[in-house]
Amino acid sequence: TPQLAPPLAGDIIVHSDPSRYGEPVKVSDLSEQLVRAWPAFKDEGGKLVVRDQDPTSVLAVYRFPKGQIVEPTNLEATIDGEIVAYGDRCTHAGCNVEDNKQQPGLMNCPCHSGQYDPKQGCKVIGGPPPHPLPQLPIKLEGEQLVVTGFFMSVPYGYSKEEDWKRYT
Ligand code: FES
Repeated sequence: TPQLAPPLAGDIIVHSDPSRYGEPVKVSDLSEQLVRAWPAFKDEGGKLVVRDQDPTSVLAVYRFPKGQIVEPTNLEATIDGEIVAYGDRCTHAGCNVEDNKQQPGLMNCPCHSGQYDPKQGCKVIGGPPPHPLPQLPIKLEGEQLVVTGFFMSVPYGYSKEEDWKRYT
């Protein structure tokens, strides 16, 4: 089903939090605290359908002050070097990664304490994860965050390259 797909070009990023589930994420919703989100697409009637059936599609979206997001983040794939999106499944064993409460601006995986830096391409800065979280290229269209292509590295859950190649 289309709900069981990775984020695809043209998808709109929507909130996953139950209090705002399915609402498009706006720039004003974003900060240095993680906003968890899903991709969604418009059906024939123009209604937003959330792609929430593949756990690998869950996203983490951040907004940092200008200049804080640096390489190896792909800056072209951010919005103005300020807003960045990643797949939010840990590359170690697939848990959802959260904000690091002790160190604001960094991410912590609750399962085995994998540490990532979302300002540096979500590179691994501690713990067992073998790879960065995959960056998702996005742009701003009006007030909405729109996906412009596939995850830029193979996400957890698509460990077999062949699976992933179907989409790229
Ligand atoms: Fe994230 Fe193990 S699943 S560190």
